Amino acid sequence: MFRIVDNARFWDRMARKYAAHKIADVAGYERTLERTRHYLKGNEAAFEFGCGTGTTALRLAPSVAHITATDISGEMVAIAREKAKAEGQGNATFEVARPETAPWPDGAFGVAFGFNVLHLVTDRAAVLAGVHRLLRPGGLFISKTPCLKEMNPLIRIAVPMMQLIGKAPHVAFLSAEDLEREIAAAGFEIVERARHGSRGKDVRPFLVARK
Ligand SMILES: C[S@@+](CC[C@H](N)C(=O)[O-])C[C@H]1O[C@@H](n2cnc3c(N)ncnc32)[C@H](O)[C@@H]1O
Repeated sequence: MFRIVDNARFWDRMARKYAAHKIADVAGYERTLERTRHYLKGNEAAFEFGCGTGTTALRLAPSVAHITATDISGEMVAIAREKAKAEGQGNATFEVARPETAPWPDGAFGVAFGFNVLHLVTDRAAVLAGVHRLLRPGGLFISKTPCLKEMNPLIRIAVPMMQLIGKAPHVAFLSAEDLEREIAAAGFEIVERARHGSRGKDVRPFLVARK
């Protein structure tokens, strides 16, 4: 099993490449932003984990009072900070942090985001408990997560081989059902479920869950 530090190192190594990577399904991505904005109140504080190079946080920043976007990778956070500075975006702050050990008080945020990250964490129950703690009662957790159990079974052979040579991080093989069950078990009620992909089979359910 991968420890947090190994994951962080993997994503540090990947960061510059990830920053240069173009969004594969732009229409699907825009749909996710549009549905997410639908739930945002301009006066609320937002939290994001697994923010990567900050692209989504910077797109959503104008729709919230402030966004605290976090990642385990210092390299990802450094790139996100560079982008925020270049864009002159003042209400997005980027920090190295994880929901399960985050230093902010209980109920500090009105909304939390986790995009393309829940399948990568080693202890989902702890992460979901951390997100739950950080949200105010009635706050929303909005996520989109690749459910690899819904993909070609060959990926189950390919990923462990890539992990052996350091070319893949920790990855969980979840179904959409597993994911919803785990989010509900953390104390959330699912209020929206959708698939936003515009190309082929979309294996990344978009979920909105209320505390
Ligand atoms: C596939 S990228 C997604 C980045 C961004 N959310 C997006 O949608 O483009 C996954 C990100 O999650 C971060 N990550 C991996 N494991 C994590 C964990 N346990 N807690 C928080 N972030 C994590 C990685 O460092 C990486 O930046």
